[in-house]
Amino acid sequence: MKEKILKELYTHQGKYVSGEELSEKFQVSRTAIWKHMNNLKKQGYTIETTHKKGYRLVETTEKLIKEALKEHLETEEIGQEILCFDSIDSTNNYCKKIAKDAVHGTVVISEEQTVGRGRLGRNWSSPKGEGIWMSIVLKPSIPPTEGMKMTQIAAASVCKAIREITDVEAYIKWPNDIVVGGKKVCGILTEMAGELHKIDYLIVGMGINVNNQEFPEEFQGIATSLTIQKGKKIDRKTLILCILKTFEELYQHYICQGTLEKTLEIIRLYSAVLGKTIRIIKGEEEIKGKVLEINDEGLLKVQLEDGRQEMLISGEISI
Ligand code: BTN
Repeated sequence: MKEKILKELYTHQGKYVSGEELSEKFQVSRTAIWKHMNNLKKQGYTIETTHKKGYRLVETTEKLIKEALKEHLETEEIGQEILCFDSIDSTNNYCKKIAKDAVHGTVVISEEQTVGRGRLGRNWSSPKGEGIWMSIVLKPSIPPTEGMKMTQIAAASVCKAIREITDVEAYIKWPNDIVVGGKKVCGILTEMAGELHKIDYLIVGMGINVNNQEFPEEFQGIATSLTIQKGKKIDRKTLILCILKTFEELYQHYICQGTLEKTLEIIRLYSAVLGKTIRIIKGEEEIKGKVLEINDEGLLKVQLEDGRQEMLISGEISI
């Protein structure tokens, strides 16, 4: 019922809808409607009530709400199911819990993560309302060896969407990060479950620093946000919608055509590493190499200092 009322308020687009109309439509008492409205207010929705006109949802661009996202979503499969939380340990963790029964393309978003996870067991700072902390459950029929391609599709989607929506000059630091001015604005954590030859599900988690004004000490100097770069607040909803649309386009192209071509066009165009000398971190060891190309499989071809060439499948690099 709560969902139905919310949807009704949304479709009235900021105009009043009377308690009587709602009670007739949903065949419940006006008192029941009033109670649902109070619950919605407690959950953070701004609903104006006047005795004569009824109820009006005041659109807050601040909070990410499923109905508001779904109303403008332009996808067929990604985001057909969206779950929004106020606070959660980690959207990737939640996806893992629901993955077995979740439909392909389910999107989980939280205003805050209490135990946001980064790669290699690191923390991911996820303060309330400031960023996009979002995970997508995918169920593609591809071998596990192809799983890392989902990270590249995500990186290309986020980078392209950031450029389109904010005009911020974002670059892809292969394979997982989006950087602006050399500082990290987004990290991607892809996790997979399955057997040797079959993926059960993949979870692509994206952490985007959108409206953060400051960072915890450990991230200072290495992290930035879109608002810091742009000098104004960014609408998270618009950015999410663009990411999901782009993700679906690239994902469907990959699944239907069997090539990463469209994704790689973006990855190469906005690469932060192509032609650069990078440091490759292999456990305790660190070696230098020049990036020669990103091949059609999305692998990084590097010319090492000792003259050897190496193909990197994934891993830690720094510029
Ligand atoms: C990294 O750069 O180390 C990856 C960071 C990934 C963070 C995102 S935020 C949404 C999702 N949930 C998590 O706990 N982590 C990912």
